[in-house]
Amino acid sequence: MANVAVIGSQWGDEGKGKIVDWLSSRADVVVRFQGGHNAGHTLVIDGVTYKLHLLPSGIVRKSKLSIIGNGVVVDPWALLEEIKAVQAQGVAVTPEKLIIAENAPLILPVHAALDRALEAARGKKAIGTTGRGIGPAYEDKIARRAIRICDLEHPDYLKEKLSGMMLHHNALLKGLGAEPIDENDIYRALMDVREDILQYTGVVWKILDEARRKGQKILFEGAQGMMLDVDHGTYPFVTSSNMAAAQAATGSGVGPDAINYVLGITKAYTTRVGEGPFPTEQNNEVGEFLGTKGHEFGTTTGRKRRCGWFDAVIVRQAVKICGIQGIALTKLDVLDGLEEIKICTGYELDGEKLDYLPASADKQARVTPVYETMEGWNTSTRGARSWKDLPAEAVKYVRHIEELIGAPVTLLSTSPERDDTILMHDPFMS
Ligand code: GDP
Ligand code: IMO
Ligand code: MG
Repeated sequence: MANVAVIGSQWGDEGKGKIVDWLSSRADVVVRFQGGHNAGHTLVIDGVTYKLHLLPSGIVRKSKLSIIGNGVVVDPWALLEEIKAVQAQGVAVTPEKLIIAENAPLILPVHAALDRALEAARGKKAIGTTGRGIGPAYEDKIARRAIRICDLEHPDYLKEKLSGMMLHHNALLKGLGAEPIDENDIYRALMDVREDILQYTGVVWKILDEARRKGQKILFEGAQGMMLDVDHGTYPFVTSSNMAAAQAATGSGVGPDAINYVLGITKAYTTRVGEGPFPTEQNNEVGEFLGTKGHEFGTTTGRKRRCGWFDAVIVRQAVKICGIQGIALTKLDVLDGLEEIKICTGYELDGEKLDYLPASADKQARVTPVYETMEGWNTSTRGARSWKDLPAEAVKYVRHIEELIGAPVTLLSTSPERDDTILMHDPFMS
C-alpha cells in the first residue's frame, strides 16, 4: 500500500486539484506541504465548481482528513474566508476534518504590502507574483522572524515578536516609499481570529505517524509546478518554496520513506502565469486557441495565462529531479481539432543543441525550441472514459510524450469533471 505525492511538472495549473480530488477517494489523509493561497485548484463535481487555495483538495469528501503542513505559509484571514466559501457550498469543515500544523508560519497583511511594494520597485523586472505575500512570508520564516500558528496561544509573546518583525518591515516599507503599517492593527486583527484558527491546530507530524502506523493511505498535494521551484525553476521568476517531491516529507513532518509513489501532473500543452522565460510560448493564434479552448485564466488572480506547445524538456527535467514514477496527463481534449501539434524535444543555444534547460537566467531567456510535428485529430476526446475511445493520433501523441519524458502516463484526464478520468495504473497500488 503506497502513499502518493502529487507534483506539478510545469509552471503550475496542470490540473492538480482535479487529480487530487479524484485520487482522494482512495486515500485516508490529504496533506498540503508547501505554498500558500497563491495556489488555485479547481474541482468540478457533478457540474458544481469548487475553487480551493489553501484547503487540501480532499476537503470536499466527507470522511477524509485534510491537513495543512508546516511547509505551507498560512494567511489566517484568507483561510477563514475560504472555509466560509466552501461551507456555503455545503462542504463540512470541522476540527475533526481539518488540521493545521502548529509550526506553520503565518502570512500577515504586512507581507502582502511588502510583496506589492517590492514588485513595484522591480519595475520592468517584476516577477508577476500573485501579490499574496508569499515571498516575504517565506523570507521571514528563514530569517527566524516569522509568527507561527503556535504563537497565537501566547498573546504576550506574540506582541513582542510582532514588534521586532514590524520594526524591520516598516523600515523596509518606508525605504520602498510605501506606507508603514501599525503593529497594533495587526495584533488586534490576529487576536480577532485567534480562537477560530487555534481550533484547527494540531501536532501534524504525530498525526501522520499514527496514520502510517494504522496503515492509512496518505496523499501529499503539491501546489505550483517544478519550473516555479525556488531551486530548480526559472529563477528568479519562481515562487519562494520548493515543490520538488522531497519537500512533501519536510513540509509535513514525515520521513522520505513515507513517499512511495511520485505522480507528476502534466498538461498536454504548456501554460505559465506571470513573467519569466517560456521557450515554447505561442504569442499567436495557436496560443489564443489553447487559451480560449482551455479557459486559461488564473484561478487565484484571474490573469490570462500564457500558452504554448508541450515542452518535453522541462517535464523530463521534472521527472528526474522529483523522481516522478508516472504522470497524470490532463487537458488532452483542448488539443481536439488542431491539424498539427508540435512538441519541443530539445533546445538550441548559440548554435549548440541542449537536452535540458540550463540554470542561467540569460540562457533560459535565449534558448530556442527544437520541434517535432505530429498529426492532430478531428474527433472529440472530451469526456472519454476509456483508452479505446481515443482516436489513434491522440494515442500516438500520448505514447510519444511518454517516450520523450521517460515516464508512463498513469492517469489521463479528458475534461474538468471528476469522473472524466482514465486510470491506467493505480498509484496507491504501487
Ligand atoms: P491546478 O492549479 O493544478 O489545480 O490547476 P487549475 O485548477 O488552476 O487549472 C486547471 C484547469 O483545468 C481547471 O479549470 C480545471 O477544471 C481544468 N481541467 C482539469 N483537467 C482538465 C481536462 O482534462 N480537460 C479540461 N478541458 N479541463 C481540465
Ligand atoms: P497552482 O497551485 C501558476 C506564479 C506567479 C508568479 C510566481 C511567483 O494553482 O498551480 P508568488 O505569488 O508565488 O510569489 O508568485 O509564481 N504562481 C503560480 N502560477 N499556478 C500557481 O499555483 C502559482 N502560484 C504562484 O504567477 O509568476
Ligand atoms: Mg492553479
